[in-house]
Amino acid sequence: MTTSSDQIPNDILLEAAVGGGKKAGALLLDYAKSGFRIEHKNPINLVTDADHAAEQCVIDHIRTHFPTHGFLAEERGRVEPSPSPYLWIIDPLDGTTNFAHGYPAYCVSIGLEHRGRCILGVIFDPSRDELFTAVDKCGAHLNGRPIHVSNTMTLDKSLLVTGFAYDIRDSPRNNLDHFAKFALKAQGMRRTGSAALDLCYVAAGRFDGFWEVRLNPWDMAAGSVIVQEAGGRLTDFRGNQLSIYGQELVASNGHIHQAMLNVLNESPTPTASYT
Ligand code: IPD
Ligand code: CA
Ligand code: CA
Repeated sequence: MTTSSDQIPNDILLEAAVGGGKKAGALLLDYAKSGFRIEHKNPINLVTDADHAAEQCVIDHIRTHFPTHGFLAEERGRVEPSPSPYLWIIDPLDGTTNFAHGYPAYCVSIGLEHRGRCILGVIFDPSRDELFTAVDKCGAHLNGRPIHVSNTMTLDKSLLVTGFAYDIRDSPRNNLDHFAKFALKAQGMRRTGSAALDLCYVAAGRFDGFWEVRLNPWDMAAGSVIVQEAGGRLTDFRGNQLSIYGQELVASNGHIHQAMLNVLNESPTPTASYT
């Protein structure tokens, strides 16, 4: 693959991201064993010491390799403006609620934009020792082996996954209507509590499709490259090209994508009456 003059070779970028992801993943396991403090961003949105420590760990690690690069990280937002065309987009602990409850489904997610385009994704699940990686036009891998999306052709044979945003109690766009519709059309439905792992599992063919509203760029940056490189399709709910800043995401094996969009664009179900 050719690189323009301001482009760093992919293997060097990947090595730095994998190093940061693995270090932060090990730190998360240490916190899981030794304990951590929990704070509330809202009644159901938690943050722990481990989130902050893992974020610092990833940024410190990548900075030793690339001191001028920009960073957008969940717990600290945009780290001072950088003149670099590279922006690292980090969710240091995706699946905080799982982590806080001792449910081992969480990960470190590290994406990289170059001139506004996502070009690399690294997601590390320390509990299962699963490292998902992808680089633009170089395929997606799980622990070094190529992965590909599933071949499931129809919604009724599909295993789907979704998630719910932390404003579920207050927002009319709470995803419950879509959840109910898909539950009646899919073979099965899951809610894992980690959007980044949901994307990896679509890429690996474990899930056939994933949708969610109100996601943040750090939930999607790395995973979107991994799905793309595994042969999947990513859009917003209208079928437009995904923007990681656009909050909505549909990711699938491609075959069931239009069927998912059709369900997402059906008119809302009138409120059910149980009396
Ligand atoms: C959350 C998880 C969850 C998704 C939420 C995200 P966090 O991220 O990815 O699966 O449903 O929308 O905010 O808070 O654990 O990093
Ligand atoms: Ca997240
Ligand atoms: Ca997080």
